[in-house]
Amino acid sequence: MSCVRAAAACSLWWLRTGTLQPLSAYGRRISVRFCSSRITLDNINREAVDRIIRVDHAGEYGANRIYAGQMAILGRTSVGPVIQKMWDQEKDHLKKFSELMVAFRVRPTILMPFWNVVGFALGAGTALLGKEGAMACTVAVEESIAHHYNNQIRTLMEKEPEKYEELLQVIRKFRDEELEHHDIGLEHDAELAPAYAVLKSIIQAGCRVAIYLSERL
Ligand SMILES: [Fe+2]
Ligand SMILES: [Fe+2]
Repeated sequence: MSCVRAAAACSLWWLRTGTLQPLSAYGRRISVRFCSSRITLDNINREAVDRIIRVDHAGEYGANRIYAGQMAILGRTSVGPVIQKMWDQEKDHLKKFSELMVAFRVRPTILMPFWNVVGFALGAGTALLGKEGAMACTVAVEESIAHHYNNQIRTLMEKEPEKYEELLQVIRKFRDEELEHHDIGLEHDAELAPAYAVLKSIIQAGCRVAIYLSERL
């Protein structure tokens, strides 16, 4: 690959951290070390990276739809700004994984239209229980996502972490922000929601199914 093409590839990437990110090709081997990237792409485990980016993109999309549903019901109440702030961070998360999908040429899950509807319905449905219901949903979902991100971090660390350093940085940052959302939910009376324990268990079972399907479809 010429220097011009390598430079063009690098120009597609600009992380919030200001570091340039790699571009790779789906199903093809590229043996170029891109600009500042520490990743040599011909050694990347394509299957693992595909799965991680696809499911994370789906998860962040679903989170956005959940907060959209919550805002539709509670946007003008006292917790509206709290929910909006978390939603704004989810928008950043989704944007980053959308960029990673393009760069790594990973296709989205075919379930996106389904998550669109289910996510909004979950957010709006729990918000109809009151702000405690919405916050219970937030606690359940964010705990599941943080757990999921921790599993991914473990998986990547068990492989060759230096090859996945930039992806690991993104996942760690988002994991920390999901945990902040989880804590915000608890601070806003999530545990006072009707049938909190049951509601949380049902939502988390749904999250596990969503993760399983989005990794594979
Ligand atoms: Fe997120
Ligand atoms: Fe979150």
